[in-house]
Amino acid sequence: MSIDVTRVGSVATVTLNRPEALNAFDQAALSDLLRSVRKLGADQTVRAIILTGAGDRAFAAGADIKAMAKFNPQAARAFGALGQAVTRAIETVPQPVIAAVNGYAFGGGCEIALACDLRLAADTAVFAQPEVSLGIPPGWGATQRLPRLVGGGVAAELILTGRRVDATEALRIGLVNAVHRPDALLPAAGELAAQIAGNSRSAVAAAKQAMAVAFGVDVPGGLLTELDAFASAFGTEDQREGMAAFLEKRRPVWP
Ligand code: CAA
Repeated sequence: MSIDVTRVGSVATVTLNRPEALNAFDQAALSDLLRSVRKLGADQTVRAIILTGAGDRAFAAGADIKAMAKFNPQAARAFGALGQAVTRAIETVPQPVIAAVNGYAFGGGCEIALACDLRLAADTAVFAQPEVSLGIPPGWGATQRLPRLVGGGVAAELILTGRRVDATEALRIGLVNAVHRPDALLPAAGELAAQIAGNSRSAVAAAKQAMAVAFGVDVPGGLLTELDAFASAFGTEDQREGMAAFLEKRRPVWP
C-alpha cells in the first residue's frame, strides 16, 4: 500500500492507497503510515489532518489477513504493537485528525478510525470489528476505544458478535459525528478541518491533550490537567492575539 499525503493550505490529507485489497494493512503499510503521521505531527504548519481511503469501496478492510495467517504469537505481538503505535500516534499528534470513512472500515480499519478525534462517514460506509469470526480478538485498540466512544454495552455487542454497522446506525450510536453523500464526504471533512485550522493551533492542541486524559483519571485529576492547560495558555501569543481580536472586533491573525 502507498500512503499518499497531500496538502491544501494548513490541512493535510493522508490517503490509504491499496484499493485492490480494500486498503488492507500489511507491516510495510503500517510503518509508512506511522512515519507519515509522526512527520505531519511535527510539522507546525499543519493544523488539521484528514485520513481517508483510496477508491470508493473502503476506508480500510483491516489488517492483511493473508499476511496474518502465517503469524506465530511473536510475529503477532510485533504486528499488534506496530498497529497500536499507529493508533497512539494519531491520538497524540497535536493536530486533530479527522477520519473520512468512505466505505468499509473493518477490524484494524475501524480501529484506526476510532483513534481519530472526529469521524465523518459516507452513507455507504460500513463498520465492523469482525476479528472474533477469524479466531482472534481485536488488536489495535477496539477493546479500549470502542467502549469509551459508544459505551460498554454497545461495544460488547459489536465486538462479541462482529456484526456490521451501517452509516445510519453508526451516527445513532455515536460512532461517527456526521454522515454525508459519498461525493460530499471529502468536502465536508475539508470544511471541518478548515474550521479547526481557523482556531489557535496551540489552544486546539492543548484541548486535544486535555481531553485525552478524560477516561484515564478521576474527575478531580482530569480537572487539574485542564487547569494546567488553561493557565499555561495565558501570556502566549495566541491568547493575546485571540482576545485582542475579539475586543477589537476583528478576526485573529495567529502567529
Ligand atoms: N486482508 C487481506 N485482503 C483483503 C482484506 C484483508 N483484511 N479485505 C479484503 N481483502 C482483499 C480480498 O482478499 C480481495 O482480494 P482478491 O481480489 O485478491 O481475492 C479484495 O480485497 C476484495 O475483497 P472481496 O472480494 O472480499 O470484496 P467483497 O466486496 O466481497 O467483501 C469485505 C468486502 C466484506 C470487506 C471483505 O473483503 C472482508 O470481509 N474482508 C475482511 C475484513 C476483515 O475481516 N477485517 C479484519 C481483519 S483482522 C484485523 O484487522 C485485526 C486487528 O484488530 C488489527
